[in-house]
Amino acid sequence: MDVLETIFTRRSIRKFTGEPIRDEDLKTILKAGFQAPSAHNYQPREYIVVRDKETIKKISEFHKYAKMLPKAGCGIIVCGNKDKQPEMGFLIEDCSASIQNILLAAHGLGLGAVWCGLYSVEKLTEDMKDALELPENIIPIGMVVVGVKDEEKVAIDRYDESKVHFG
Ligand SMILES: Cc1cc2nc3c(=O)[nH]c(=O)nc-3n(C[C@H](O)[C@H](O)[C@H](O)COP(=O)(O)O)c2cc1C
Repeated sequence: MDVLETIFTRRSIRKFTGEPIRDEDLKTILKAGFQAPSAHNYQPREYIVVRDKETIKKISEFHKYAKMLPKAGCGIIVCGNKDKQPEMGFLIEDCSASIQNILLAAHGLGLGAVWCGLYSVEKLTEDMKDALELPENIIPIGMVVVGVKDEEKVAIDRYDESKVHFG
């Protein structure tokens, strides 16, 4: 898929068939995450791929907006390493850029994906840290739920001329 077509047709997918995604697709998606820019090029990101049924169940119990996770069968938790990037704003931006790349890569491969927010909702961040037994310096910023899609969504044109300003 052409990059602009991928950007313009991506939508959040929340219905999945339950089929697992292929390992080579997962690798491509992760590689896309790694390619994202980062402040000072510190690349302060760690990726936790959750496929274990028990862990998936635990996450979907504490995250009320991630109830689609068990059916998708795969969650990628994008975490920021505070030791590599102590500036929290940059850490969040670095992880967010990576998450967007992951969403686009999944869509480009014909898979469905949705960004489920974690940081800076304290309870969600803490619950995820506990579920994954993360060390103190590793902050879960967001989770991308990825799977084989069981819904199609139409593209929405959100361009709004009134919000574009020229100086
Ligand atoms: C920071 C962030 C957190 C989000 N958290 C959730 C979430 O927890 N669960 C969910 O289903 N969607 C979540 N979304 C997806 C948004 O609801 C979605 O992107 C928005 O409604 C626009 O729809 P679209 O992605 O189909 O264009 C999140 C998106 C962002 C950027």
